[in-house]
Amino acid sequence: MIDLSQIPNLHVIDHPLIKTRMAKLRAVGTTPGEFRDHLGTIGRLMAYRVTEDLPLTELEVETPLEVMTGHQPARPVVVVSILRAGLGMVEPFQQLLPEAYFGHIGLARNEETLQPESYYCKLPPTLSEADVFLVDPMLATGNSSIEATSQLKAEGASRLRLVCLVSAPEGIQKYHEAHPDVPIYTAVVDRGLNEKGYIVPGLGDAGDRYFGTL
Ligand code: URA
Repeated sequence: MIDLSQIPNLHVIDHPLIKTRMAKLRAVGTTPGEFRDHLGTIGRLMAYRVTEDLPLTELEVETPLEVMTGHQPARPVVVVSILRAGLGMVEPFQQLLPEAYFGHIGLARNEETLQPESYYCKLPPTLSEADVFLVDPMLATGNSSIEATSQLKAEGASRLRLVCLVSAPEGIQKYHEAHPDVPIYTAVVDRGLNEKGYIVPGLGDAGDRYFGTL
């Protein structure tokens, strides 16, 4: 039995609106269009919560009536999605963070070894100064997120956060062991992994359900 209370960097975003959407997201009868809608809503709610302590600086704003002090992100904000399912979390972050830069890391899971195989990496040049959010709806074995985080650190990222929707305790533990400095945000923690590395009860393959490639 994995004791997640020993992982101080784990944040489970427990919110009624996320819970009710999550039930719809998981349901086997949800169509790809509905799945995209629910994932987008949960993604926006997550984006709101995971940016709660984003550092800001002041800027001068001229309203139609007078000049006042407003706020903007203190550093560049970079959102990096792990292809393919991570793409579903790009649009929600784009909506809430119009200032953000976006990167993509392509890691395909070898279904036999469960190890990630890298096939694509395109990252914004601001990475080393940025607050970086690595997004992937599913934290299963942890292998893809660990590999993507290692790539981001190798490219200079240091202020990293991992944002997932559904996580397995095994993946959380493994990720934390590999990258104890990176906070993990997840909407739910499920029971575990099955023999194929799928999260149970989970929601199936997030990429297939999002793009309708089942
Ligand atoms: N990736 C998915 O999309 N679903 C799982 O359950 C595990 C990994």
